[in-house]
Amino acid sequence: MATGTSLSHVFPLGSRLNERGRLEVGGCDAIELAREFGTPAYVVAEEDLRTRARAFTQAGRDSGHSDLHVVFASKAFPCVAVLRLFAQEGLWCDVASGGELHLALAAGFPAQRTVLHGNAKSEAELRMALRAGVGLIVIDNFDEIDRLARLLPGRAPGAGAEQEVLVRVTPDVQGATHEKISTGQADSKFGFSMGDAAEAFARVEGVEGLSLQGVHAHIGSQLLDLEPFRALAAELSGLGDFPVWDFGGGLGVQYTEHQAAPPPVEDYVAAIVGAANEHGIGADRRLLIEPGRSLSANACVTLYTVESVKQNVSRWVAVDGGMSDNLRPMLYGATYEAHVADRFGGSTRCVVAGKHCESGDVIVRDALLDDPRPGDVLVTPATGAYGFSMANNYNGVTRPPVIFCSDGDARLVLRRETLEDLTARDVS
Ligand SMILES: Cc1ncc(COP(=O)(O)O)c(C=O)c1O
Repeated sequence: MATGTSLSHVFPLGSRLNERGRLEVGGCDAIELAREFGTPAYVVAEEDLRTRARAFTQAGRDSGHSDLHVVFASKAFPCVAVLRLFAQEGLWCDVASGGELHLALAAGFPAQRTVLHGNAKSEAELRMALRAGVGLIVIDNFDEIDRLARLLPGRAPGAGAEQEVLVRVTPDVQGATHEKISTGQADSKFGFSMGDAAEAFARVEGVEGLSLQGVHAHIGSQLLDLEPFRALAAELSGLGDFPVWDFGGGLGVQYTEHQAAPPPVEDYVAAIVGAANEHGIGADRRLLIEPGRSLSANACVTLYTVESVKQNVSRWVAVDGGMSDNLRPMLYGATYEAHVADRFGGSTRCVVAGKHCESGDVIVRDALLDDPRPGDVLVTPATGAYGFSMANNYNGVTRPPVIFCSDGDARLVLRRETLEDLTARDVS
């Protein structure tokens, strides 16, 4: 592949092959990054994250709707440095647990700009949210209404008279995606059925100290078609007239060069605003969208080192990471591409396998690599969503660091886990 050229949209914006034929992310040479920080490592192009955040907020402004807010679904990349960057960009933050709320607050999100989700929020999590003064709690079930009613006296003293809440519904609108990331179907663990929504509204309104602001739905993830989002607005609009409408996240991304590209962010935002207007959700209403992967997935690549190469039926290229840093291929058959970081464009068909004791620990089934050898640095792009967040210590493998790259400067924002970290919680 020609050097000095930019790479496909799967890579972070501004990525290129430098004059030595090496991958460069955020102006940093991938081979030098691997040498300096070790592998596996999550490498994030800082400018890419900022550009995507600005594209969403600009799309909101361009849509003509003056009260649309972009709520980053922190589960996609709950690293404090990532959250801090999005907080600086003026986004809001979706948290799905007390832990994510803790990270969002540590990153500097004002509590008022956080939205608490969860289908099984504990008393402790609700208490924490009330004490912190979160902007919105998204109520998922009747038990939660009762629990909140009991806990309301613990609300932050300066946080206003009432806790604002949304009611989450499952509108039976489905997009074409994997079953495990489809959430809008009627038989879902999330939210109230449409049939129960009216009772949920009434019960919330009956609790002194709760203020029903509107409804929420998230129909699924990795959606490449805008139609389900329009259908969602149509369904929700039938539920009543509310000040706040939260349409969840779900806009898909491109994981490999050969996959279909998602619609542009501007089209996605315009489709939601257009459908909301069309269905009578007025321009004076607050609209929320909760993108996760579309903000962070393509901003990050993972660097690995090849440990061994063997040939049987397939050519197996084993690297120093795998299902402990990217569970998505094993969890829902997600596909990625891989390249040797200083020899792009090979033709040897390989299976890129992880180092874990599971046959299913395969990161890329069908990679075309340039004669990979032990010691080579391998890169998988588009790993900035649900990789870091689902990372684990299977086989006692320590979790990778996160490195921010910008204008040729690399900075460690989260260190690699150490062996001591693995035993740090043992108390006897
Ligand atoms: C409630 C909610 N909002 C937003 C998202 C983000 O989805 P995505 O990363 O597909 O944009 C999710 C993902 O699970 C979700 O459950």
